[in-house]
Amino acid sequence: MSHEVSGVIAPGKGEPVRVETIVVPDPGPGEALVAVQACGVCHTDLHYREGGINNDFPFLLGHEAAGVVEAVGDGVTEVAPGDFVILNWRAVCGQCRACLRGRPWYCFNTHNAKQRMTLAATGQELSPALGIGAFAEKTLVAAGQCTKVDPAASPAVAGLLGCGVMAGIGAALNTGGVSRGDTVAVIGCGGVGDAAIVGSRLAGAAKIIAVDIDERKLVTAQRIGATHTVHSGEADVVEAVRELTGGFGADVVIEAVGRPETYRQAFYARDLAGTVVLVGVPTPEMKLELPLLDVFGRGGALKSSWYGDCLPSRDFPMLIDLYLQGRLDLGAFVTETIALDEVEQAFERMHGGNVLRSVVLF
Ligand code: APR
Ligand code: ZN
Ligand code: ZN
Repeated sequence: MSHEVSGVIAPGKGEPVRVETIVVPDPGPGEALVAVQACGVCHTDLHYREGGINNDFPFLLGHEAAGVVEAVGDGVTEVAPGDFVILNWRAVCGQCRACLRGRPWYCFNTHNAKQRMTLAATGQELSPALGIGAFAEKTLVAAGQCTKVDPAASPAVAGLLGCGVMAGIGAALNTGGVSRGDTVAVIGCGGVGDAAIVGSRLAGAAKIIAVDIDERKLVTAQRIGATHTVHSGEADVVEAVRELTGGFGADVVIEAVGRPETYRQAFYARDLAGTVVLVGVPTPEMKLELPLLDVFGRGGALKSSWYGDCLPSRDFPMLIDLYLQGRLDLGAFVTETIALDEVEQAFERMHGGNVLRSVVLF
C-alpha cells in the first residue's frame, strides 16, 4: 500500500518551493512511516532549494521534525506504532570504526531510508532533505532515524532538537564541555548560536558573552541567557571578550557563523588552554592563515562540532525531559507556527532578524 499526502517540493534550482501531492510507500524492512506533527524551517532547506547542497532535484524539503510512528517494516525493534519520535539525519550503523569508538556522528555507513517517495503527478523520485523530507503529512525514514521521547512535549519544540537547536546545545555541552563557572563567548547568534547560549547556561557557565553584527540578534541572545553582548561592528571582538573576562579570554569560544574573520576571532578570544568550538560551516574556498607560534603557544583545543556531537538516543530524551521540567527554555526557539503552504514565505522572513524558527504544524 502507499499513501498520497501533501508535501513541500523544491522543483529546481532557485525556484520557489510549492506544495504537491506525493506518494509515500508503506515501510519496508528497517523503515518507519511517520505521521509528521511539526517541522521547523531551517537554512539547510533553503540551501537545498538554491542548489547549494547537490543537484538531485526535486527535493522533498523539511528535516527538523517530530511526529508519531504510524507503521514499521520488518525487523524494526527501535520504535513501534504510536511512539512519539524526533527524527534525526543519520541512522548510524553501530559497527564501523567511528561507531565502535563512540563517535557515531562520524559513522561511515549511515543507512537512511532509500529515496522511495515520489511525485504523484509525474512519478519522479524525490530526494528527501537530509534523508528525512518532513514538510509532508507522512514521511518514510529508517527506523534508526527515530528517537522516542516523552509525548508530553509540544511537537513544534521537539522537532527543533532534530537539527539546529541540537547542533548549538551540543556544541556547548558535548563538544565544548562547558562546565559550571566557565566563561563562554558565542560568536554569531542565529538559531545555532542562541542554542549554544542556552546550552552554556544549562551547563552553569558564569559568563556568556554573545557576539553578533546585528543588534537585534544581541537583544534576543540576552533574552535567552547571554550575560554580556558585543556588537562586532562597533568593537574589537577579541579585545572586548578579553576585557569582559578579566583580561584573559573565554574558557570556551563557540563560533557559529562560518567565516574566516570569525574563526580568527574565536581563535584569539579564548583564554590560554581554552577551547574553540567551530560550528559555523565555511565554504570550500575559505582559508585562514595563523602564525604557528600562536597555534603552538596558546595551547588548548580547536574542535569542530558535527550535529552537536550528539547521540540522539541519549540527548533527545534528556533535553526533552529538562524542557518539560522547565529547566531548558526550548519554547523560546519557536517564533511562529505556520501552515504547510507558507514555507516559501518563511524563507523570506528568515533573514529578517527576529525569526528564530518558523515551524510548520500539521
Ligand atoms: N560577526 C558576528 N556575527 C555575524 C557575522 C560576523 N562577521 N556575520 C554574520 N553574523 C551573525 C548573523 O547576524 C546571524 O545572527 O551570525 C548569525 C548566523 O546565524 P544564522 O544565519 O541564523 O545561521 P544559523 O542557523 O544560526 O547557523 C549558523 O552554524 O550549523 C552552522 O551551517 C550553519 O554555518 C551556519 C552556522
Ligand atoms: Zn536544519
Ligand atoms: Zn557506523
